[in-house]
Amino acid sequence: MENKMSALQKTSLIILSILLISCNQKQTKSTMKKDVHSFSNPEEVAITHMSLNLDLDFAKHTMKGYAKLNIDNKSNARKIILDTRDLSIEKIRLDDKTETKFELGKFKEFMGQSLSVDITSDTKSLTVYYQTSPNAAAVQWVETEGKADFLFTQSQAILARSWVPCQDGPGVKFTYDATIKVPQNLMALMSAENDTVKHADGVYHFKMNQPISSYLLALTVGDFEYKKIGRNSGVYAEPEMLEKAVYEFADMQKMIDAAEKLYGAYRWEQYDVVVLPASFPFGGMENPRLTFATPTIIAGDRSLVALVAHELAHSWSGNLVTNATWDDFWLNEGFTVYFENRIMEELYGKEYADMLEYLGYGELLEQVKEFGDTSVKTHLLLDMKDEDPDESVNAIAYEKGRFFLRSIEEAIGRKRWDEFVNKYFSQHAFQSMTTEDFLQYLNDELLKDDEALKQKINIDAWVFGPGIPANCPKVKATLFEEVDAAMQANGIIPTQSKTQNWNTHQWLYFLRNLPDSLSLEQMKNLDNAFGFTHSTNSEIQCDWYYHCIVNNYTVAQAFIEKFLTSVGRRKFLTPLYKAYIKTAEGKILAKQIFEKARNKYHPLAQHTVGELLN
Ligand code: BES
Ligand code: ZN
Repeated sequence: MENKMSALQKTSLIILSILLISCNQKQTKSTMKKDVHSFSNPEEVAITHMSLNLDLDFAKHTMKGYAKLNIDNKSNARKIILDTRDLSIEKIRLDDKTETKFELGKFKEFMGQSLSVDITSDTKSLTVYYQTSPNAAAVQWVETEGKADFLFTQSQAILARSWVPCQDGPGVKFTYDATIKVPQNLMALMSAENDTVKHADGVYHFKMNQPISSYLLALTVGDFEYKKIGRNSGVYAEPEMLEKAVYEFADMQKMIDAAEKLYGAYRWEQYDVVVLPASFPFGGMENPRLTFATPTIIAGDRSLVALVAHELAHSWSGNLVTNATWDDFWLNEGFTVYFENRIMEELYGKEYADMLEYLGYGELLEQVKEFGDTSVKTHLLLDMKDEDPDESVNAIAYEKGRFFLRSIEEAIGRKRWDEFVNKYFSQHAFQSMTTEDFLQYLNDELLKDDEALKQKINIDAWVFGPGIPANCPKVKATLFEEVDAAMQANGIIPTQSKTQNWNTHQWLYFLRNLPDSLSLEQMKNLDNAFGFTHSTNSEIQCDWYYHCIVNNYTVAQAFIEKFLTSVGRRKFLTPLYKAYIKTAEGKILAKQIFEKARNKYHPLAQHTVGELLN
């Protein structure tokens, strides 16, 4: 009996140590963490380079050609598994020669289909000949009404697979080159080295020499012109938009310089912004070397340019050091919101940056209230198995992420914190990080042995716990105290003498602090005093139109409809459609508006609003 026991003990000891060793490996190699939003097998065989060759058909709304994928077959795998969604695969060749067998898996909601390809242990490349569907989820072929044709892609989070067969998870990185053929009067741009002039033959060549994740693959085609802004920055836009954009983004070069001073060299050489049509579903998208931006940030007074600072900051947090899976999304966005604010502080001062942070805190409070302060959706580290990461974008990753980092900054001081962040970016450049990798690094570099500091920061509460931890830094914006004072003195309609110098952010603070329920009389007086309905500032429009909808202020109805049928930015669509569906009549109206607007939205926004109204 005794002998048997010890044999059993020995075996369990061995099993335990194997488990421990493999656990340990998991912690140090982020690629070991399973990405539940990809079918692919990069731990066995990984893409290292992609050569894309696509012909665009603006009549049929399809792209046709091939993607040649160079691979590193680390484990002599006999199959490589790729992600696809609505692609028709014609054939696949190995090493530019023999055709090979492949199989498409069963279609899964928002995941698409796996593409399993037979390879040999010494296969160096596979070339997938394919065509995209007119309904490709990443792609919008913009309805143009007499204007030049326009197309853009949005690959984040898991939509790249709808226009390129690839290992579509942020834990995999590869370099790429591309040849894209478009109609002769148009110009193609990618998240890569771009030309600044049109090519008469409509053929464009691209190169991205730094390894990137698939969600950063991007293409836009339009009637673009280019204007340089600074040493390594500039703007692409349609001719009638170009000068406005150049004016609005005049400080871009200063932003780049400030960012480099804060957190180290810009690793992508050039930084340009392309202005897309208003149907672009986001404010901005940090495609490497070429941020895609909505025209709704061009307010005419440079009041919404924090968005450029945000997308630029992603050149470090996101594009250089990347969330390993979408569960770690806060690593991308939390760092970026923090970094964005530091850039804004450098350029426009602390009073200005404090306003932005204060508004961000308000968004965090709202989001936690919506989910409930015990909800797992308010954890920084998420578990999105069976959930669509493209429908799970909310203020938690952005704002709770920011305030977690702010709380570390507060605990150790800005100097030490900045040194840490600098080193974090340079030591993990061109890699992907899990939340656990980050916490390990934080511990190794900063917290080690300092129990008091660890307690003060309370990582567990921030990362693995719900709501807003008690040590969340207090926000204060002196410029908002003016708004408070005016509202206290004169109620909801402050005198013009007090408001005449207010900036956009003070107005947003004002609008967000109005009571939810307002009488028609009050709405009318507000509108007469401040002209909100006629505002051309998209952020103010969105906040004001929300009040109009919930208070049934029909004077603004035509303006709201115009806004919702011309702007496709999800951040504006969601709250406004949500406001409508609070009542039965509102829901009918919302459906009518959506019917008109639907075809003008990107597929992603169509889906989001469609779900909301169902
Ligand atoms: N990378 C995001 C946009 C995104 C996130 C697309 C998740 C798809 C899935 C981008 O950097 C972003 O955060 N955009 C914000 C801007 C902002 C917070 C300043 C937006 O679009 O509003
Ligand atoms: Zn972002």
